[in-house]
Amino acid sequence: MDTRVKEAYEYINSNTHKRPRIALILGSGLGFLADSVEDVESISYKDIPNFPYSTAPGHEGKLVFGTLFGRDVVVLNGRFHIYEGWDPTDIRTVIHTLKLFGIEKMLITNASGAVNTSYVPGDIVLVKDVMNFMFRNPLRGPNDESIGPRFPDMLGVFDREWMDRVKYVLPDIKEGVYIGLTGPTYETPAEIRAVRKMGADLVGMSTVPELIVCAYVGIKAIVFSCATNMAAGILEQPLSHQEVIEVANMVKDKFAEIVEKALEVAW
Ligand code: HPA
Repeated sequence: MDTRVKEAYEYINSNTHKRPRIALILGSGLGFLADSVEDVESISYKDIPNFPYSTAPGHEGKLVFGTLFGRDVVVLNGRFHIYEGWDPTDIRTVIHTLKLFGIEKMLITNASGAVNTSYVPGDIVLVKDVMNFMFRNPLRGPNDESIGPRFPDMLGVFDREWMDRVKYVLPDIKEGVYIGLTGPTYETPAEIRAVRKMGADLVGMSTVPELIVCAYVGIKAIVFSCATNMAAGILEQPLSHQEVIEVANMVKDKFAEIVEKALEVAW
C-alpha cells in the first residue's frame, strides 16, 4: 500500500461520517454545483496529508461530502491541472485515495473548446472517448500490482451502461471525443486544425489524467464537457478564461439538470 495514500485516506476517513459511492469532479466555472450539495461536511485539500491543492482561478480546493439531487456524493471542488505544476502522480494520489474510501463511480466535468464546428458555445457534450496528448502519464514509475495492472485497459474506464442510460433520459445530448493538452496556453489555429483531423471534437487541459487513474484503480467514469468557446481560429476573437467562466455560468441550469439526470440513472 502506498503510504501517502494511506495517510490521506485515514485523514478523510476520520473527518467525515459520510460514505458516498460516487464522486464528482467539477471543471472551470462549474464549481457552483458544490453549493447545491445538502447536509454538507467538507474537508479542505490543504488539510489532507499528501493531497495537492489547486491554484487555478475558479477552483476552490475542497472535498464536499453530502447529498446532491438525492444521491450521496463527494464533490472534488477544484481539480489539479498539469499546467499548475502538479505532477500527474499527485492526481494518482487523489483518485487512489477515493478508491480506498469506497468510490465506485466518478462523474467528471470540464470546460473545453469546441473543435467540432457543429457545436455551439454552451453545448454540454457526453465524452465517448479521449486522447492523451499531454505526453505524460500518472502511472509512470514502478507498479504495485496489488493496486492495479501495469498496463491498464482504457476502454473499460467509461461506464457504457451508465452512458446508455444517460442517452436514454437525455436523447438530444451530443457525444464527442475529447483531447487533453497540457496548456496553459490555448491552442493555436494550426493545432486545432491538426487535432480535428485526428478526430477530436473537444479540446481541454484536464480530465485525461483522472480517467487514466480511474482505469487503473477500477473506478467507472462518465464525462461531460461544456464547450465554452469555439476552439482557436474558428472565430476571429481571441480566447479568454473570462469567456470560459461566463459561458459556463450561462449554462448553469442546463448543466445542473444534466448532472441531476445522470445521478438519477447512475445505477
Ligand atoms: N482550449 C483548451 N482548454 C479550454 C478551452 C480551449 O479552447 N476552453 C476551455 N478550456
